[in-house]
Amino acid sequence: MLETLKWTDNGVLFIDQTKLPTEEVWVNCRTHEEVADAIRTMIVRGAPAIGCAAAMGIALGARDLDAKGISEFRNGFGQICRLMGETRPTAVNLFWAIRRMQRRFEELSTRPLPLIKQMLIDEALAIYHEDIATNRTMGANGAPLLPAEGGVLTHCNAGALATAGYGTALGVIRAAVESGKKLHVFADETRPFLQGARLTAWELMKDNIPVTLISDNMAGYMMAKGKIQAVIVGADRIAANGDTANKIGTYSVAILAREHGIPMYIAAPFSTVDLETADGSGIPIEQRSPREVTHIGGKQIAPTGVLVENPAFDVTPAKYIRAIITERGVATAPFGESLQKLAEQKPAE
Ligand code: MRU
Repeated sequence: MLETLKWTDNGVLFIDQTKLPTEEVWVNCRTHEEVADAIRTMIVRGAPAIGCAAAMGIALGARDLDAKGISEFRNGFGQICRLMGETRPTAVNLFWAIRRMQRRFEELSTRPLPLIKQMLIDEALAIYHEDIATNRTMGANGAPLLPAEGGVLTHCNAGALATAGYGTALGVIRAAVESGKKLHVFADETRPFLQGARLTAWELMKDNIPVTLISDNMAGYMMAKGKIQAVIVGADRIAANGDTANKIGTYSVAILAREHGIPMYIAAPFSTVDLETADGSGIPIEQRSPREVTHIGGKQIAPTGVLVENPAFDVTPAKYIRAIITERGVATAPFGESLQKLAEQKPAE
């Protein structure tokens, strides 16, 4: 299975996603500050992978804290968690993972420091392993929804590289292909960061899953030509009413899919569901550097000084979504009720 990140005694290893597909380079982050930088600069990206990276970064920082006693440790631990929380604002899995590490620390706070440090590492590793298991379950839950054969459009990268392994949207595609479905994936290139061209195309080719790369503005044409039977994407945050933030351009794909009568599916672990945010208007949208728009591969493609907007995500209103596939089950409209029902369900052990 394709690996995205690894815990080692010498730090956290990440496959450098800014260099793929032309270079397969691993980066070793030896401090929690380096892990935070790796998240900020998108060496590691994708909501579940960001959560796993943050948990490992916190465990690394906590392990290396030189604290005399628990109150000094608590201060240092708080600072590490704050730094992680400032890396990227939209993917709620980041905050979910930080809260989970904080809760674990509170449970352990009366224990000796060496034990706390070890148990925080164990918790980060548990988050990592659970993510892979979650993706496999999500794949099994979602595969029956995809057609027996035909074209499936995806946007951005919601694959192994965006998670601890296997992927969310690409996990569902993988499970469908493993079950014998004859699918052909159309990967939107996903400007400006090109996650579709650089990452989705790369990892599907590695798995021998048929994939055709298209530029973002070709999706409507492909749908009108009858080449797309389903759309499936991941999510960075799903509000309580089902409104879903995902990579910029997802909203346009959703409207095109509706116009052409094509079902649009979201695949995400339940940790991406944010029941504290009522609807999409409350989801913070990360604004990234104009340079991502004015340059491609380091080469300037726009006039110097041109005004640029670069929101990294948009929100697809729930009314455009056929179903939200999670490891706890599949939610359908009305999403307010179905997501609440899944929330009340105890996660499978
Ligand atoms: O900016 P990125 O590359 O971190 O954005 C990633 C996405 O939008 C993914 O589609 C989303 O995180 C789901 S990943 C399983």
